Amino acid sequence: MTTVDWLWILHPVLAVVLVYPLLGVVVRLAWQTRQRRVASVKHPVTVGSDHSDLGRWLAAAVVVIVLVALTVVIATKTTPSEFAGGVWRAAQLLMVLAGTVASLVALLRCKTASLRLAFSLITWTGVLSLGAQPEVWRLSDNPLSGDFWQSHYWAGVAVTGLMLASLAARQEILRDLRFRRLHISASVLAALLFLAQAITGSRDLLEIPLSWQKPAVYSCDFSARSCPSASVQDAS
Ligand code: HEM
Ligand code: HEM
Repeated sequence: MTTVDWLWILHPVLAVVLVYPLLGVVVRLAWQTRQRRVASVKHPVTVGSDHSDLGRWLAAAVVVIVLVALTVVIATKTTPSEFAGGVWRAAQLLMVLAGTVASLVALLRCKTASLRLAFSLITWTGVLSLGAQPEVWRLSDNPLSGDFWQSHYWAGVAVTGLMLASLAARQEILRDLRFRRLHISASVLAALLFLAQAITGSRDLLEIPLSWQKPAVYSCDFSARSCPSASVQDAS
């Protein structure tokens, strides 16, 4: 493995080590919070606040691992000298990255509803802007095609948006029944998207070759599922 290959597995490693274990705990505490409220099961009083506190870390961790993936994909697509748009575009993208991280930090700290709404939208816009760069591989951008619904990118930015929405509406979920119901529906969808990410992420990991294998693998015909060397061997 070269340095670039290690950079490419940084995102999957962080997902496996950080996001999914946190998700397990957050979902377990969510279930206990619900049982305590609805079925009066005797769980500790702290399950609700523990769920919300760890949910905050989960949402932040998802944004961070997505930013890691997008930065690595954009920065390693070509050599620095061949980078499309040169130094000026690289500086602009770095500013978007820094602004997105700053906005996430502000979202984690601010209290008023309008600021929480504003910073969650700015953070998500930052993620979408970096994701819209041509270097970022997206299976399809057409919602009418089946590939769109199997895209690791689109489900990834959707689940990021759902996590940011829960993070922004923490106080409202706590106080307002309508928000709590909305949070439950959104979180069921988020849980399904996390499951989809584990499947499509592992698929992508299987499909992306190591850097030194790229010339050979990308000479293959992906739709015919055949490679030049294999055809030569078949013919001989
Ligand atoms: C996939 C992840 C998540 C799932 C499945 C989930 C699910 C739930 C459920 C079932 C409840 C209980 C609702 C009730 O008592 O009627 C709840 C409450 C809550 N959730 Fe989440 N949630 C998730 C992520 C988050 C995140 C990321 C945040 C924000 C940081 C968050 C904040 C809250 C808050 C503030 C409450 C109210 C807690 C209380 O009543 O004391 N959740 N969630
Ligand atoms: C929390 C769940 C996850 C989210 C929100 C997420 C999101 C993303 C996003 C937005 C990208 C950039 C677009 C792209 O190149 O497709 C990406 C890249 C990638 N993801 Fe994930 N992902 C998650 C989990 C996983 C897991 C569990 C794996 C594998 C085990 C994985 C493997 C990959 C790979 C191989 C890439 C290509 C680029 C790279 O490694 O940096 N992802 N992911």
